[in-house]
Amino acid sequence: MFVPPDKIETDRLWLRAFTPADLDELHDIRSRPEVHTYLYGEALTRDEVKAKLDERIAKMSRLTQPGDSLLLAVVRKDTGAMIGDVNIEWLSGPHQQAEIGYVLHPDHYGKGFATEASRPLLRIAFEELKAHRVIGRLDARNEASGRVLAKLGMRKEAHFVDNEFVKGEWCSEVVYAILAREWVARDSAG
Ligand SMILES: CC(C)(COP(=O)(O)OP(=O)(O)OC[C@H]1O[C@@H](n2cnc3c(N)ncnc32)[C@H](O)[C@@H]1OP(=O)(O)O)[C@@H](O)C(=O)NCCC(=O)NCCS
Repeated sequence: MFVPPDKIETDRLWLRAFTPADLDELHDIRSRPEVHTYLYGEALTRDEVKAKLDERIAKMSRLTQPGDSLLLAVVRKDTGAMIGDVNIEWLSGPHQQAEIGYVLHPDHYGKGFATEASRPLLRIAFEELKAHRVIGRLDARNEASGRVLAKLGMRKEAHFVDNEFVKGEWCSEVVYAILAREWVARDSAG
């Protein structure tokens, strides 16, 4: 069980729960086709974003049991802008697995924000959920996402070829992972 504090702080960011006031900024992100290039879904309408936001607020604000997801808004400390989200899904109890993910506004790509915002998720997974292994999955063409996971200290474990049919084409999926013992070793190395 993990209930996040009001704010999780990193050097340049706050992570916090979503609120209804995030609708405009979330819509600005999720209505952009380029954001969805390597996601399962397509760009969303304002009504679809509103439904997604309502669901996040109602069901994705804590990790109570395996199967739950926690989605946190990523806020820049310097401007107060909500620039995207990071998520962690508690995949399995018996196997102690979790998965992380992230989606940012294109104006804020390439500044290390996804990596910075994801580090607290690994801490939550390993220290709060007592995860044994955390994964990240991506379309093999999504090089920026692969870089984020590599910079987090995760190993590329799998490259499945044409294993998923997404938005009208066969796509290849890459899986990165990190074990609890690897995270502890990396963390203590500074
Ligand atoms: C994936 C995503 C979250 C990355 O966010 P970000 O804040 O730019 O990530 P970071 O700045 O922490 O790191 C990005 C790394 O990828 C590199 N990169 C960016 N675009 C790249 C590209 N087209 N090809 C190769 N590398 C790329 C950057 O140089 C950086 O690496 P470096 O630090 O070694 O220079 C962002 O692109 C995004 O939100 N994309 C749309 C949603 C998405 O695809 N989410 C992931 C689903 S698996």
